Amino acid sequence: MELDTVIRGGLVVNADACVRADVGIVGEQVVALGESLPAARREIDARGKLVMPGGVDSHCHIEQVSSFGILCADDFHSATVSAAFGGTTTVIPFCAQHRGDHIPEVLSDYHRRAAEKAVIDYGFHLIVANPDEQTLATDLPAAIETGVRSFKIFMTYDRMRLQDEQILDVLMTARRHGALVMVHAENHGIISWLAGRMVGQGNVLPRYHAICHTRSSEAEAINRVIALAEVVDTPILIVHVSTIEGVAAIREARARGVKVYGETCPQYLFLTAKDIDRGLEGAMFCCSPPPRDEAAQQACWQGLKDGALAVYSSDHAPYRYDASGKLPKGEKTTFKEMANGVPGLELRLPLLFTNGVGSGRISLNEFVQLTATRHADLYGLARKGRIAPGCDADIALWDPDKRVTVDAALLHDNTGYTPYAGRELKGWPVMVFSRGECIIDQLGAPGEILAQRGRGRFIARERTDAVSPANRMIPEMAQLAAWGNAL
Ligand code: URP
Ligand code: ZN
Ligand code: ZN
Repeated sequence: MELDTVIRGGLVVNADACVRADVGIVGEQVVALGESLPAARREIDARGKLVMPGGVDSHCHIEQVSSFGILCADDFHSATVSAAFGGTTTVIPFCAQHRGDHIPEVLSDYHRRAAEKAVIDYGFHLIVANPDEQTLATDLPAAIETGVRSFKIFMTYDRMRLQDEQILDVLMTARRHGALVMVHAENHGIISWLAGRMVGQGNVLPRYHAICHTRSSEAEAINRVIALAEVVDTPILIVHVSTIEGVAAIREARARGVKVYGETCPQYLFLTAKDIDRGLEGAMFCCSPPPRDEAAQQACWQGLKDGALAVYSSDHAPYRYDASGKLPKGEKTTFKEMANGVPGLELRLPLLFTNGVGSGRISLNEFVQLTATRHADLYGLARKGRIAPGCDADIALWDPDKRVTVDAALLHDNTGYTPYAGRELKGWPVMVFSRGECIIDQLGAPGEILAQRGRGRFIARERTDAVSPANRMIPEMAQLAAWGNAL
């Protein structure tokens, strides 16, 4: 078989092994991995480079209206271009149902916008804010049938949060139809009560955001939603875990056999609450939950090492430092009014490479596992997240020695700033393939995106073992079953 492309002589890194091999590509797929592959139409010299699966970012907000009612700064073009420049070749952003919205319309709206603009492949999660009978009985099962196999629910935010009974309803639906429920776990009462008091006293700067989102608010909500998930024996994934207590709660539940997965993000490994404490400009570092301290960073690293945290995602939530995002009331904006979130699609991988692989905290294989393979496995992307015959040729060539000083002007999103400005990074993706097509080539000099708008494809995701119940009953449910009753 004649090969279209051979990536020759690099170190191929998968989650389970590193091998020095050539990668042969025909059309959109990898067809061969081995030494001395025959000549191809296109030959890429990868000597001295790492050949890694393109990243899969399973948590990012793109062209989405947030829980504050604010449209984020990136559309499906700018966000996916930015992701690609950072070595990510698949994203799973959210289709957001707001109260009163109907899921079929929400889905078709996001599908239309993404299909016009995305340059890399994408799936979708559904944010469920309105779990009424129509949504639960008809619309969510229908969405799952189309390959939208994960929901995000919120335990905080006035416009989004669900009550415990509603969470149980969503969990039951997910269990019946095989979807993964992602949970934004923070205790709403603690946060809103504290925030009300702070604002009432005139304490409105961003630094109070970090005070109000207490560590205990994350810990309480994680423990509560784990208890809810145990009642109905439904797997859950806690997103953006930021605290020692949160990581410990997930680890402890997993040790008991509960199917709970955890996720953390760059802002919890590389920022702290001190970054928010810089007057109004602290808004650029405000996200929920907020960055904490060095001890919490260590706990997140440890969670990534021991599996309490399964994935590392960006939670890219881009808002400009102006009236369109962070400062709707200009200098008078209180921390309660500013859009929540930080950008991270493009720097997610380079930050982890420098600070994880470069420092010896994680291996190259763990890097690939945390940034690509496990996302693909948990969320049902069978052809993504690994370099192997039969998989999509979604590949990033990394120059492990390339040094970059982070500057917002180098990045491709629309946020206009980066929380990581000035950081010195070593290791950078210099060439990126998406389904066999070279979409970024910076091997020589910095280059433009080579991909056409709209070339990215929607990926209908498959059911994975991650969503199968653990078959573990709490005593009350076991008693119910013994009596011959069911939920
Ligand atoms: O602050 C954040 N994380 N904003 C994005 C929305 C969310 O909660 O994930
Ligand atoms: Zn969230
Ligand atoms: Zn998010």
